[in-house]
This record gives sequence, structure tokens and C-alpha cells, in this order.
Amino acid sequence: MRHRFHSMCPYFAMFPESFAESWIEELTQPGDLVLDPFSGRGTAPFQALLMGRAAVGGDINPVAYVLTRAKLRSPSLRQLLARIDELEEKSRVAVRQRESIDGDQGENRDFFELAFAPRTLVQLCYLRKELQWSSDDLDAMVAAVTVGCLHGEVNATANYLSNQMPRTISTKPNYSVKFWRERGLIPPDRDVFEVIRNRAKYRYESNRPLRRGQAWLCDMRELPRKVGSKRAQLLITSPPYLDTTSFEEDQWLRGWFLGGAAMPTRGVYSRDDRHYTRDKYWSMIADLWRVAGQLVVPGGSVVIRIAGRGMSEDELCRGLLGTSVCSQRNVKLVSSGVSEIVRRQTDAFRPGSLGLRTEVDCQFKMY
Ligand SMILES: C[S@@+](CC[C@H](N)C(=O)[O-])C[C@H]1O[C@@H](n2cnc3c(N)ncnc32)[C@H](O)[C@@H]1O
Repeated sequence: MRHRFHSMCPYFAMFPESFAESWIEELTQPGDLVLDPFSGRGTAPFQALLMGRAAVGGDINPVAYVLTRAKLRSPSLRQLLARIDELEEKSRVAVRQRESIDGDQGENRDFFELAFAPRTLVQLCYLRKELQWSSDDLDAMVAAVTVGCLHGEVNATANYLSNQMPRTISTKPNYSVKFWRERGLIPPDRDVFEVIRNRAKYRYESNRPLRRGQAWLCDMRELPRKVGSKRAQLLITSPPYLDTTSFEEDQWLRGWFLGGAAMPTRGVYSRDDRHYTRDKYWSMIADLWRVAGQLVVPGGSVVIRIAGRGMSEDELCRGLLGTSVCSQRNVKLVSSGVSEIVRRQTDAFRPGSLGLRTEVDCQFKMY
């Protein structure tokens, strides 16, 4: 059975776990370290843990970090449910005592009042202020389970917390408000604590791995310093695709829940915004090779899934190989292949609007 942590929350351009699984199986042994410096929702490092490898994931986006951390450092279900009970009790007291439960909705109140029922919003604002997801494994899991159901389709079984929205990206405030008003849609009255308790029980029907990995909220250029003396047998990753999305903007509502701005932003968390023009794009990939040069063992492997608007397989492979000199290591391209983008990945986020049909997978050896 597919491990239920994998689908905790969708993420743009996420790997299917089978992609990570087959490379990890082929290129590593139990105990080896697997590293993903653009970890997104954490699929590659989490799959590595499941397969008895050591795992490190890093990402600059708090949503990605919280998902990666929760999967790599999961608490027991008993601890998780006890923490949810404790938060529920404390939130009741906070509301009774009229402590500040304002979630900094700023000028975006219209959106928030139509997005969430009053009690749901109060509970979310409480959790937003209370959860110590960046320093506490237990709170990272509570936050991850909550962002996974923060928005989605409204129907009897789904139990998402918001008014009608896609589960994938957070739609823009003005568009959403117009959409809800025109259709007379009102948000469902959900008890956040009940929803996340049920979701947690569902996720934990798969046994959590007892081995723990390491997650970092950082620019990939900082990883060598964070990782220290450990070296990876396999670096497996997919960098942001050229001119395709802004992870920060597309995940803005999840970002708000994690303490971010109450409206879509670009370039606030991701100080590395080099994926909109070719020149900058390849300088970002050159930095990825510098990181690989420092962190991959001699004889180790690098697997990169990459794509870009208007970029051919040839351009992508040549670009990757050309920039690999920045690793200051001898790098050999072992194989490359093209895969069709399947609906459940990028297309599911912006149906029909991307023009991105293929992804390229390249496998390298580093000496
Ligand atoms: C294509 S996604 C990775 C998806 C991932 N493979 C998964 O399965 O979910 C690229 C990721 O790179 C992150 N990112 C962009 N620039 C970064 C940087 N300079 N350092 C670290 N992460 C970065 C984005 O936040 C995004 O999560």
C-alpha cells in the first residue's frame, strides 16, 4: 500500500514516489545518505527513510519545509493526538478570555470571511499563532496535517476547511471572492481540531518510519554548511522549472497559515528567484552543482528531474552537463530520458495553461 504520509499535501511539480523509489533502489544501499536540496513536499527523502537510508531534505519555502520535516521526524500518533487535544483545550480558553486571535488578515478580510466559517477561522488563527513548527517536531506534524486540508473541494466526504477551492494551489483573493459571491457559496462550518484528528488517524494507518531524517528551511546554497561532514551517495532532486510557477504565490494561503502575509507574495521567502529567465536559471543550476560538488561522495550519483517552458530535452541535458563544471568534479552523464507530464502532477495545478508537456530525467555520476 502507498504510504499515507506521501499524500499529506499536494505540491507543484511533485515527484511521484515511484520515481524516487526506483532511483534509490538502483543507486544506494541501506544506510547510505540520500539528499534533496529542493525537497518540496519531501517525497524523495521520506521514501529514502522508508527504504532504510539516511535522509536530508532542504527547501526555501516554509510549506515545503513543514511537510518535509513532518515526514522525516514524525511523532507517534499518541503524542500527536495528545497535542491536538491540548491545543483544542487551550484555544477554548483563549477564545473565552478574548485573547488576541487575530490572524493578521489585514486588508484581506473579505477573502478570509468568505474562505472560512467564523469558528474555523478563529481556530486557524489560534493555531497559526501557537504552533512552533520551525522548532518542534510535534508541532511541525500538526501544521503539516492542517496545511494538507486547509483548502479544497467542498463535499460531504472531503472535509477540507475552506469554501470551494482547489486542493492544489491557493487561488488569488479577488478571483476567489468573486467566484464565491457569484455562486452564493458559503464556507462549511468545520471544527479544525476534529478534522485534523481524523486526518491524523488516517495518515497513521501506515506505520511511521522509526529512523529520523533531517530537514532544513534554507536556500540550497546554505546546505553544505548545515549538513557538515556527512556525504550523500545520491542527490536526487527537481529544481524549480524555468518560467513555470512561483511556489510562494501559488501556496500563499498555506504560507499565511505558517505565519506569512495575508495575501499572495513573490520573492519574500524565496530570496532566490532565479527561475524566470534562462541566464539566471542556469546560474541557479550552477549553484546546485557547487552544492553537489561538496556533498556527494566520489562515485556517488546525481539524479535531476527538470523542465522549462520552451526548453527542449537537448537544451536541458546540455545545460545540465555544461553547468556541471561548477561542481569542480569530474561529472559523467549516465542516462537521460523524457517523460510525459501526467495529469496528477503539474497539469493538475493549472489545467491547460502551462504548455509544459515533458520533463527530462538525467542521471550523472560524480568522481
Ligand atoms: C520542483 S519543486 C520540488 C518538488 C519536489 N520534488 C516534490 O516532490 O515535492 C522545487 C522546489 O525548490 C524550492 N526552491 C526554489 N529555490 C530554492 C533555493 N534557492 N533553495 C532551496 N529551495 C528552493 C521551491 O520552494 C520548491 O519547493
